Amino acid sequence: MANVAVVGTQWGDEGKGKVVDLLTARSDMVVRFQGGNNAGHTLVVDGKQFIFHIIPSGILYENKKCLIGNGLVVDPEVLLEEIDNLKVAGIFVGPERLSLSEKAHIIMPYHKAIDLARETAKGKAKLGTTGRGIGPCYEDKAARTGVRAVDLLDPEGLEEKVKANLKEKNFLLERFFGAETLEAGPIVDSYLSMGEKLAPFITDVSVELDQAVKARKRILFEGAQGTHLDLDHGTYPFVTSSNPVAGGACAGAGIGPKQLHHVVGIVKAYTTRVGAGPFVTELTDETGDYIQARGKEFGATTGRRRRCGWLDLVVVRDSARLNGLDSLAITKLDVLTGLDRLKVCVGYEIEGEKVEQRPTSLRRMAACTPIYKEMPGWQEDISAARDLTQLPEAARAYIETIEEVSGVPASIVSVGPGREETIVVKHPGIEEFRNSGIQEC
Ligand code: GDP
Ligand code: IMO
Ligand code: MG
Repeated sequence: MANVAVVGTQWGDEGKGKVVDLLTARSDMVVRFQGGNNAGHTLVVDGKQFIFHIIPSGILYENKKCLIGNGLVVDPEVLLEEIDNLKVAGIFVGPERLSLSEKAHIIMPYHKAIDLARETAKGKAKLGTTGRGIGPCYEDKAARTGVRAVDLLDPEGLEEKVKANLKEKNFLLERFFGAETLEAGPIVDSYLSMGEKLAPFITDVSVELDQAVKARKRILFEGAQGTHLDLDHGTYPFVTSSNPVAGGACAGAGIGPKQLHHVVGIVKAYTTRVGAGPFVTELTDETGDYIQARGKEFGATTGRRRRCGWLDLVVVRDSARLNGLDSLAITKLDVLTGLDRLKVCVGYEIEGEKVEQRPTSLRRMAACTPIYKEMPGWQEDISAARDLTQLPEAARAYIETIEEVSGVPASIVSVGPGREETIVVKHPGIEEFRNSGIQEC
């Protein structure tokens, strides 16, 4: 396998964690490049469920290195908790298994406080964020007032930054939001103490990746969120504050674009969304409830019920363009079993006109109605299929429609949450690998 990036093509929760775990077997290292603990990536291995919010989903493989890139915003408390939870599960995570970029930005208590206060103040107009301080932390990064992982190792510098930041944050919290203010002392003490624990992991991830590239190692890039939650390309302002598109992997990991050889877009066989924002194919009827229940569509981070709808291929087709997708991993196909008829959205109609791309104006998007292609469903349990030929004809036709409308071939079809419940049509990156001189898998 060559260097592969895994990205979500919808609004997150497409099953990236499962696919990353699967592809880690053919990689040497796994690096996350954006987002924070707003992500919830679930894997099921030997019947055991693991949920990761920050640590890359490749961590369950003993001999693979996992890296947290500079593009992330990291809550050190959550990271330490994940490391501890793995220890309880018998997996020891030391610096030989995990690196944290010294340039990654650190989520501070005031980021979480502002995220929550702002959402409360917005009332009905809230974005439905995960409340983890993601947006405010990225705001400080852009404002050049952020605290980075490297600052956790510098007691004087950290105190100075926290004190300076709190002047502004406390004003905002108290005077604008009417919320509680925060004190610098306890924050500095607790972050320095977490910094001490994290010190062995803090390093220059870009240099580590460069050494790996030179040693012809295989790198897997793990995206979080999804293309339509992208700060630039998503349904703004109902988006997250980072760039989940494949292009974000370069800036967020510290590598050049030529090191990305293959981009896999994860497509859930239907559409879901957590939080607010437009959703053209949303189902608020019993079919939506059926998909929600069968797909166990509850957020892995906040436990919120995910909104469900028919597969929107306008969204996926946009993602093919925005990410330069080479192949698709279609997940959760098994969830659609039992429905008599299936619908996939192949275009939108607005004021009697057909549109091929998702409109940028949310007002226009809200006015769109879906143009559906109707297809027969299937009743058979497909979770034991390990080859496309073992799928019912209707399921194969469904996959072919996705490939046709998006213009991208499927490399993987997932038919259950377990690692083994997978059809590998063609290993992603295998062709690029043959031409690359990267070492044999
Ligand atoms: P991510 O954020 O993209 O990694 O996705 P999540 O982990 O938030 O949500 C995907 C959920 O679907 C998880 O609970 C997975 O265990 C589960 N899952 C992944 N692939 C499949 C599949 O093919 N079938 C079923 N039934 N569940 C799946
Ligand atoms: P994974 O990696 C689904 C959504 C939130 C909210 C919006 C902004 O598991 O696919 P934020 O806290 O980021 O400021 O919230 O983005 N959101 C996600 N939705 N999956 C995710 O991650 C998400 N991360 C953020 O629900 O609508
Ligand atoms: Mg998730």
